[in-house]
Amino acid sequence: MTNPFLSPLKRVTSNRPITLFSFSLDLKALPSVVVCLVTVGVLFLSSLKSAYSADIEKGRQKAQLCVACHGAGGNSENPEIPALAGQTAQTLSTALYQFREGNRKNPAMSPFAQNLSNADMNNLAAYFASEKRAISTHTSSVDSQSLGPELAKQYNCVQCHGPLLLGQQHIPRIAGQQHTYLLAQLKGFKAMTRADMDGNMSSAASVVKDGDLEILADYIAGLNR
Ligand code: HEC
Ligand code: HEC
Repeated sequence: MTNPFLSPLKRVTSNRPITLFSFSLDLKALPSVVVCLVTVGVLFLSSLKSAYSADIEKGRQKAQLCVACHGAGGNSENPEIPALAGQTAQTLSTALYQFREGNRKNPAMSPFAQNLSNADMNNLAAYFASEKRAISTHTSSVDSQSLGPELAKQYNCVQCHGPLLLGQQHIPRIAGQQHTYLLAQLKGFKAMTRADMDGNMSSAASVVKDGDLEILADYIAGLNR
């Protein structure tokens, strides 16, 4: 059988090697080179697809494992367990990756990240990010409500987490997060016991007075945005 793409080339070139981008290419090898390039192209495109077009429906199905702890739709009702609903997708997938690889450890959470593939993580992240965050049930003290906004500016929390503390890209939404969880994470960053992907959050927490950490956690947990 003649290859429709190749036969015209063969006719005009005999079997002379030609130089293409400084590689010497024998035209007889062209069919396998084309097959190779097409295969690489298809693999590349399908890897892009799994990385960028996460499947919310698949995420929703997989999430049945998670809601026992993180609450329906990722709206945790347990002060020690973070809400996932409305969190940035990148925060969620990065956290899952850190748990799976063992950089971040928690006896309750780590086992549930062990068997997730990268595609599962992206799908779960897309699903929880798409869910609406429920209204916070935490009531901040009057003192925290008045001191919190100033402290969040003074310590640059708003620079990274955004003016409304709703997060962006890999920087988590913290507004309305569960109170006990928030405070534990802040203390963990300051003590360098909570995993930190780039060191930025640990340095941010290292300069915050312990009393101010308490006020910030109380203020931020009560935010409804
Ligand atoms: C047995 C309870 C439990 C189950 C089931 C569970 N988690 Fe968790 N998860 C936790 C706890 C507790 C934490 C907080 C860990 C810590 O303090 O670092 C957590 C933390 C997380 C975080 C980090 C959130 C953040 O803001 O940094 C993500 C993401 C997460 N879980 C996703 C999932 C997903 C997805 C599933 C299902 C595949 C799941 N969890 C199942 C208990 C659980
Ligand atoms: C220079 C940027 C930067 C500044 C300033 C900063 N953060 Fe963060 N913060 C981050 C990043 C990045 C993460 C994610 C860390 C990770 O999980 O690897 C994070 C994580 C957190 C978390 C954990 C959230 C979760 O879901 O687990 C809390 C809580 C938090 N920051 C609160 C604060 C507070 C309060 C301040 C101000 C005192 C602050 N941050 C200042 C970048 C910053």
